[in-house]
Amino acid sequence: MNMIEVRNITYVYPGEGKPVLKDLSFCVEKGGCLIVKGDNGAGKTTLFRVLNGLAFPVKGQYFFDGTEITEKWLGVSRNSKLFHKKIGYLFQNPDTMLFCGTVYDEVAFGPRQMGLSDDETDRRTRDCMELFGITDLASKAPYHLSGGQKKRTALAAVTALNPEVLVLDEPFAGLDRKSKELLKEFLKEYHEAGKTLIAAVHDENQCELPAGEVLELQVV
Ligand SMILES: Nc1ncnc2c1ncn2[C@@H]1O[C@H](COP(=O)(O)OP(=O)(O)OP(=O)(O)O)[C@@H](O)[C@H]1O
Ligand SMILES: [Mg+2]
Repeated sequence: MNMIEVRNITYVYPGEGKPVLKDLSFCVEKGGCLIVKGDNGAGKTTLFRVLNGLAFPVKGQYFFDGTEITEKWLGVSRNSKLFHKKIGYLFQNPDTMLFCGTVYDEVAFGPRQMGLSDDETDRRTRDCMELFGITDLASKAPYHLSGGQKKRTALAAVTALNPEVLVLDEPFAGLDRKSKELLKEFLKEYHEAGKTLIAAVHDENQCELPAGEVLELQVV
């Protein structure tokens, strides 16, 4: 059973003539791991925006867990909630996804949105902060953190949602050796638990991911 199926998608940024993704097709089965590679500008981030319903291809189809994801379908709030509960997205630049007053609130944001009880929210928030070694930073403002600390906060925030599918855009970039090890161990366990993983990495970090299929994007 495919968790993700992309059929011949072409993506063109509004106002641009040249497509960034052209006739791209691939599948990721439930519990699979897809490693996305490609030079700077090859379209990895663009593809991830499409997979997360933040951009829509001009041609082709995208199916998530059997449902075709379109702007119209996601326009229905019930659909959009369901979709975003199942897929978690780590942006390449954590600055674009951190907006709360404290690290604790940032990590608790997703569980609260999902309507979990205060106890369950607190438990998940603390677990995820522990997982990425940011417990000591709980009351700090994300805005004032170092680059690597921001990345770890963003990682804790997406994993707090415990999504079926994790889409990670260069998750290891900017992390020190110890944080890389924590993330590597987390991804291994996540994968072993039968969840689906899609990650963009450059060569030097590929060995930090569970074994998976490789999709190599080319600069068009
Ligand atoms: N908002 C935008 N408007 C127009 N063109 C864009 C926009 N964002 C990205 N692009 C272009 O799309 C192409 C793909 O960019 P993208 O960010 O997807 O690449 P990438 O593979 O993630 O690169 P990197 O390894 O540097 O992160 C690039 O040529 C980029 O200039
Ligand atoms: Mg990118």
